[in-house]
Amino acid sequence: MATRPVTHHRGLRCASLLLACVFAALFLTQCGIGNEPAQFTKEPLPYALDALEPCISAQAMDLHYNKHYAGYVKKAIALTSGTACGGKTPEEVIRMTAGDAAVAGIFNNAAQAWNHAFYFKVLKPKGGGEPEGRLAEMIDDAFGSYDDFKEAFIKAASSQFGSGWAWLVLKDGQLAIFTGGNADTPIAHDMLPLFCVDVWEHAYYLDYQNRRAEFVETVLDKLANWEFVASQLPEDASPAAGEAVTEAGDEPAVAPEAEAEVTEEAVEAEAAPAQAPETTHEAAPAEKEDASHADQAHHD
Ligand SMILES: [Fe+2]
Repeated sequence: MATRPVTHHRGLRCASLLLACVFAALFLTQCGIGNEPAQFTKEPLPYALDALEPCISAQAMDLHYNKHYAGYVKKAIALTSGTACGGKTPEEVIRMTAGDAAVAGIFNNAAQAWNHAFYFKVLKPKGGGEPEGRLAEMIDDAFGSYDDFKEAFIKAASSQFGSGWAWLVLKDGQLAIFTGGNADTPIAHDMLPLFCVDVWEHAYYLDYQNRRAEFVETVLDKLANWEFVASQLPEDASPAAGEAVTEAGDEPAVAPEAEAEVTEEAVEAEAAPAQAPETTHEAAPAEKEDASHADQAHHD
């Protein structure tokens, strides 16, 4: 008779403990603080590894897609597991971590994973040349002509010091060229990405060595998937009055390491935290480095 209350109390304690554990698990899941990573996956390449030859060799594409891009995705998954980024989309992770030096590693890998997935989509075999339709009209309206846009884009991409990206974006309804160092991305600056060229050395050095401008021009002339780019335009986007602007992210305070040899270690090192992005500022094209500097060796 005397043992019944003790057993009863133990049962209640166990039930209460179990219930508390369930609620804690539910709470952590809701807060994204479980072991769940953010929603990063290695997206399929939209074409074969050798489909962009001779503009981009199969070897260069294999390294770029299967080593560098895969490395960023792997790191992004690992670094977001068990953090407030768990369960979030890549875009959400980028916006959550942009500008925060404490989570620069997450930002760098998340942004690089997103940038690369987008970059591979803006290329296609037998692409390039002048776009058509509404995109062409918007480019003419913003830059004067496609040739003027091409010249400005190549100059901006060539002038990006060190590793980075050159973008065609929609900002406040207006087409603009944006360049950013390292992993910087329009997603972090409330711009809509439309087109980009990866100007990290790993993107072109095997095929073009230090001839970055030639690589960018080749992408524009022979690889750009303008149909995909046009598909990114919002329905209400249209040619608008006003001149296009060129924006540039701040140059990195520390030059990235040289990328002479692409090894697993190099990919890991490249995917490691570097620095938080900084607020972009407008820069007139004339303020940027002369395009002739592009053919100097950039160490990504
Ligand atoms: Fe890349």
